[in-house]
Amino acid sequence: MSVTASYLAYLVSSVCCIMALRGLSGPNTANNGLRFGIAGMALAILTTLALHEVQSYGLIILGIAVGGGIGAVIAKKIEMTALPQLVAAFHSLVGLAAVLIAGAAFSNPEAYNIGTPGDIHPGSLIEMSLGVAIGAVTFTGSIIAFGKLQGIIPGAPVVFPGQHPLNATLGAVLLGLIVLLCSTGSPFLFWAIVVLALALGILMIIPIGGADMPVIVSMLNSYSGWAAAGIGFTLHNNLLIIVGALVGSSGAILSYIMCKGMNRSFFNVILGGFGGEAAGGAAAAAASDRPVKIGSAEDAAFILKNASSVIIVPGYGMAVAQAQHALREMCDLLKEEGVKVRYAIHPVAGRMPGHMNVLLAEASVPYDEVQELEEINRDFAQTDVAFVIGANDITNPAAKKDPSSPIYGMPILDVESAGTTLFVKRSLGSGYAGIDNELFFYDNTMMLLGDAKAMCEGIIKALEQ
Ligand code: TAP
Repeated sequence: MSVTASYLAYLVSSVCCIMALRGLSGPNTANNGLRFGIAGMALAILTTLALHEVQSYGLIILGIAVGGGIGAVIAKKIEMTALPQLVAAFHSLVGLAAVLIAGAAFSNPEAYNIGTPGDIHPGSLIEMSLGVAIGAVTFTGSIIAFGKLQGIIPGAPVVFPGQHPLNATLGAVLLGLIVLLCSTGSPFLFWAIVVLALALGILMIIPIGGADMPVIVSMLNSYSGWAAAGIGFTLHNNLLIIVGALVGSSGAILSYIMCKGMNRSFFNVILGGFGGEAAGGAAAAAASDRPVKIGSAEDAAFILKNASSVIIVPGYGMAVAQAQHALREMCDLLKEEGVKVRYAIHPVAGRMPGHMNVLLAEASVPYDEVQELEEINRDFAQTDVAFVIGANDITNPAAKKDPSSPIYGMPILDVESAGTTLFVKRSLGSGYAGIDNELFFYDNTMMLLGDAKAMCEGIIKALEQ
């Protein structure tokens, strides 16, 4: 393939990636977005394979077969609730790839047309050192995030005195080494940057608690994009630069949206220490002494059937229980009874952006019944029943009333303004932020204790009778 044709093909591929992001921004257009993404990536791979620099296809095909095979098996088997750690694991590979490519280019610069050993072009040294530093931080940081989310290492923040000054000092030393490397080209400095950045990746992520991990995964996603863009400059590959920048900026925007949804600053997340385990235990203990109304599936069916409007509030527990199909069936029965049913989605419900939208779409819930917090929050006051299924923090009034609460200031769904609030969850325990929820003890609240899917099935049975 000629150079001009490959540039053109890469440009079309980049446009497909931009269209993919655009499509993925809404449930109605998400399928088309995916098609654009697949087409863009397929064109990028085919164009790269057709480049005249490719010397043998054997290893490339073997790599695609092994990597693609492993990816396909994992994608088929993975549970929806385990997606954040899968994304973290995949990001670690992007970081590692950036380190390995930079290492190869540094050791053999002639092969990449960027100079000779000991005399690499200064511009390439800058790109390479930034790419390798960001890639190494992404690699170890993503492994720690994966370990915390998967429960292989404790999710609680690991903090020690002088941690932040130490990280700041190491960051400053890393920058200094990058500047030195760019002026000397010394191999010792190159590998010193790799080792220091690997250590910094670990130290930056260990103080961050499990509750903040999705923000960190998205931030690491952003880093992996910038690392790829940096390496794109080294390889003179425009597509890698454009796609790396798209991943880098979209990851950063996503982190910002999540922080906004929780009313936290990005620095507050990075400094860590939020969502420890002790608070959760204390909350559950405090909860056990207080009077609370507990109902059955039959009670819930009776209340729901006699309502004229119901708002469903799904949360992380619905994902854990995979209750979305039973929930939709329950709502179909209610609609047959003439009940107006809508779904309210909080921006940080579940464990990743769009988590609830994806699950509801999977269960074929009509998109026009699904509304965002700002669209629906005022309607709770005119609604008979708020049916909260596996959600907790996103309804917690402490976010509005208790300035000492770790979630104070986070926007919440005003479920308590509804005539009756039904809470489906297995216990009176806390959610991810590890704090008690006063709503369980309100007069107009009824707790439906049990697994979300089993409870929906019980309500369906009662409705059918
Ligand atoms: P949570 O506050 O974590 O509450 C989920 C509730 O589901 C738990 O209290 C749990 O109570 C219940 N549950 C678990 N398994 C269940 C099952 N099988 N059946 C029924 N209930 C079950 O979730 P949320 O309300 O969705 O809030 C999300 C939290 O994650 C927020 O704190 C948010 O800040 C944080 N977060 C989210 C994101 C994104 S992007 N979504 C990013 C960062 C942080 P029981 O154990 O009593 O059943």
